[in-house]
Amino acid sequence: MKLGIWLIGAYGNVATCTIAGVEAIKKGLAPKIGFVTELEEFKRLKLAPVENIEFSGHEIRRTDIAKSLDNFRRQNGVFSETLCANLKAKLKEISRRIKTGFLLNCGKAVEKLSSMNLPKNKLKLYDLVQNIQQEILDFKKRYKLDQVVVVNLASTEAKVTQPPEYSDIGLFRNAIKKNKKTGLSSSVIYAFSAIDAGFPYINFTSSPGSSIEAIDRLSIEKKVPHFGKDAKTGETLIKTALLPLFHARNLKLLSWEGHNILGNRDGYVLSFAESKKTKIEDKKKAVDVQETFSNVRIDYVPSLGDWKVAWDFIHFEGFLNTKMSLQFIWQGCDSILAAPLVVDLARLSAYANKKGEYGPLKHLACFFKTPYKVKQQNFFEQFKMLMDYVTNQR
Ligand SMILES: NC(=O)c1ccc[n+]([C@@H]2O[C@H](COP(=O)([O-])OP(=O)(O)OC[C@H]3O[C@@H](n4cnc5c(N)ncnc54)[C@H](O)[C@@H]3O)[C@@H](O)[C@H]2O)c1
Repeated sequence: MKLGIWLIGAYGNVATCTIAGVEAIKKGLAPKIGFVTELEEFKRLKLAPVENIEFSGHEIRRTDIAKSLDNFRRQNGVFSETLCANLKAKLKEISRRIKTGFLLNCGKAVEKLSSMNLPKNKLKLYDLVQNIQQEILDFKKRYKLDQVVVVNLASTEAKVTQPPEYSDIGLFRNAIKKNKKTGLSSSVIYAFSAIDAGFPYINFTSSPGSSIEAIDRLSIEKKVPHFGKDAKTGETLIKTALLPLFHARNLKLLSWEGHNILGNRDGYVLSFAESKKTKIEDKKKAVDVQETFSNVRIDYVPSLGDWKVAWDFIHFEGFLNTKMSLQFIWQGCDSILAAPLVVDLARLSAYANKKGEYGPLKHLACFFKTPYKVKQQNFFEQFKMLMDYVTNQR
């Protein structure tokens, strides 16, 4: 079973760590720590082996994965120069497969990232969709892949007011036919292209992607699975694991303040108010407790690179109105936390696709900050949904 993963944002930090990690595993240079799908319970699913994964994708910046990996190592002081040298030739080869992406209503921050000519920007929407679909199909054919899953790892788009096309697949199709670009953004066009051509789609980011009514409807019509949005890998993961504890002891939450600082490209994009808005909304949904005063801040601190620091202050009340607090500091290498989850999500959606499942893959809720059409935010309940799914497979 050969699995292709098509990454949108293929030279970004998460994509780079995902590709490098899988290629390192193929060469026996890294263990499989961090993959949820490598837990014993998942063995029975016989998922596509990590060793059988091939990559390609779209990008809007001119660089390559080998350079990106080397920059990441130098900036963040993780993994060795020898590992980068060992992977260099293979990463250069994968980079030659990457296709030029496009920008549509992504916001100023994302536009500033790209200095290259993006011919797809000028295409009519119908031709753009055909073009993207053909590129993914060519990848599937050329590398003799059994399945290809598209994963959105592109920068966070600016928040826009949702146009009527987002809630109606008829209107959405019409906009594509009539080249009506107003209100539509890159992430939804990539999602439409993937699902319309039969490729499962995962939205790792807080951009809309497939998490809108129109694309969800398309996924049902086309019998293709999809899910998102915004992977939870750090502060929000801890939040959704801690909340059940307060509930279990009947302690009353008074306020939850979270302050995140990070210095990578993602942090740079999030330093623009219009992009930050989307991310903060997703992060806030995790602590949706009535009467709790809750705030989330994200600040760009370039010297930190990928080492994101989150400081959370939780004020709560116990017996006899006694006020107490819990504080935690999380320091995680953001892209290293994210990379194995990209592989997990691709393997699980390929599996679901093969089994004939389609629409939103709700059992993947534990991977996301805003799981599409899932209200449950308790991490353990979400993880149980995944484990129940795994044990119920025949
Ligand atoms: N732990 C995590 O790192 C984590 C967790 C949750 C969500 N995310 C999200 O995942 C995404 C990737 O994070 P990252 O740290 O790799 O960011 P990054 O900035 O390093 O990578 C994003 C890449 O996307 C490219 N890009 C932007 N718009 C594009 C488009 N329209 N088409 C093709 N390529 C495009 C950029 O050039 C860049 O290389 C971000 O949206 C981030 O918010 C990351």
